[in-house]
Amino acid sequence: MMECQQPELLEKIRQQYETSPYPQAALDDSPKDDLNALFIHNIVTSYYLRYQKVIDTKGKVILDAGCGSGWKSLMLAEANLGAKIVGIDISEESVKLSRYRLEHHGFDHVEFHTLSIYDLQNLGMEFDYINCDEMLYLLPDPVAALKVMKSVLKPEGIIRTNLHSALQRSGFFRAQKLFQIMGLTESNPGDLEVEIVLEIMKALKDGIDLKVKTWNSNFEKEETKQSVLMNYLLQGDNGFTIPQMFDMLQKSDIEFISMVNWRLWEVTDLFKEPENLPIFLGMNLPELDIEQRLHLFELIHPINRLLDFWCGHPQQGKLGIPVSQWSDTDWFNGKVHLHPQLQNPKAKEDLIECIEKQQNFEISKYITLPAAMPVYLESTVAACLLPLWHGVQPISSIVKRWCETKPKHPVTLESVSEKEAWNEVKKLLSKLEVFLYILLEP
Ligand SMILES: C[S@@+](CC[C@H](N)C(=O)[O-])C[C@H]1O[C@@H](n2cnc3c(N)ncnc32)[C@H](O)[C@@H]1O
Repeated sequence: MMECQQPELLEKIRQQYETSPYPQAALDDSPKDDLNALFIHNIVTSYYLRYQKVIDTKGKVILDAGCGSGWKSLMLAEANLGAKIVGIDISEESVKLSRYRLEHHGFDHVEFHTLSIYDLQNLGMEFDYINCDEMLYLLPDPVAALKVMKSVLKPEGIIRTNLHSALQRSGFFRAQKLFQIMGLTESNPGDLEVEIVLEIMKALKDGIDLKVKTWNSNFEKEETKQSVLMNYLLQGDNGFTIPQMFDMLQKSDIEFISMVNWRLWEVTDLFKEPENLPIFLGMNLPELDIEQRLHLFELIHPINRLLDFWCGHPQQGKLGIPVSQWSDTDWFNGKVHLHPQLQNPKAKEDLIECIEKQQNFEISKYITLPAAMPVYLESTVAACLLPLWHGVQPISSIVKRWCETKPKHPVTLESVSEKEAWNEVKKLLSKLEVFLYILLEP
């Protein structure tokens, strides 16, 4: 299936990463404390978004397609304890580094192969989750790559992948064209070509459009040489719009699930008064589907470098019931989990301190990605959630705890009835579930 990529371009891409495996993260570095990154890479997050259930990562098989130097493979391993991690890349040097990195951090349930994505079926494996990060946009035929990934994805499996935004990155695409015409990308660009780019960009006047759109002085630092290669001199780089992304999904018969950084794609955030939108827009917006809303966003404010999304096999009718549509019985029998990335000793320690000092608990400060602004919980409310740090709880036990910690109405001093407590807990959990800080199962 190798003919899916023009062999010459494939070789240029391979060479670029063979001499400069990506990213250049130090071997000792660990993503352990990067809770936002772990939140994305933890397959619990995307499975919950799609199926409204909390899966066990133990025994799951995860593919890192185009694993590069293994930094993201390490994130996948850290975020999904007990899962098997399989990595592939066409650059042998990158594969070696990945293998070494995971071994260095004590992960042995892993395997890495020097393999093109188009030959994935040769592995004879099926995956619960495929991470294909920062690679799809390099391929001349991304639809063929999506189809191959789909062919090795389990029926309920999920793919996370991304494309470069044509609109956000338009400056770099112009710069790449410019340096291509100058002959800098004819063979494998290295230190000399990086120096030439730096000299030209620095020599341009500050107000010149290409400089305004692409340049920042960080490119000059020794340790960011790779950024010059990965932006101004990237081989095979392509940009896409939201309609092109959805068109590719349709051609591969794959269903869109969600943007990975969904909170950074909200159209109403772009307006001064989201509650009071211009009337024409206010009337039309609710009629738009997700593709149209995302496209509107990128046309108005193309700030996201990546169109980064989760997708999977079409699943008509097999998805879970959203919390907003739960019946009283669903609530009554329901269970509540803390998101695994919040399940950490530091958050628990902070919570206990807030309860003891009667201070608000800022639940959003650990995983900031899903929240547009800080989310605070009043200390007696936060106290009701403390048992979640011990593990999954029936919702009814949170209600019981509410009755114990907040037994009286603070104004009338009348006793809080169980029904009132249920309503308060439902409101609290529904609010926190939007951020996936807590996960609810009927
Ligand atoms: C920008 S790096 C991304 C590495 C890693 N996924 C990350 O996000 O840190 C792109 C990687 O894709 C690999 N690659 C490019 N074309 C490929 C192909 N056809 N099959 C497998 N890997 C490929 C390159 O060798 C390179 O390591």
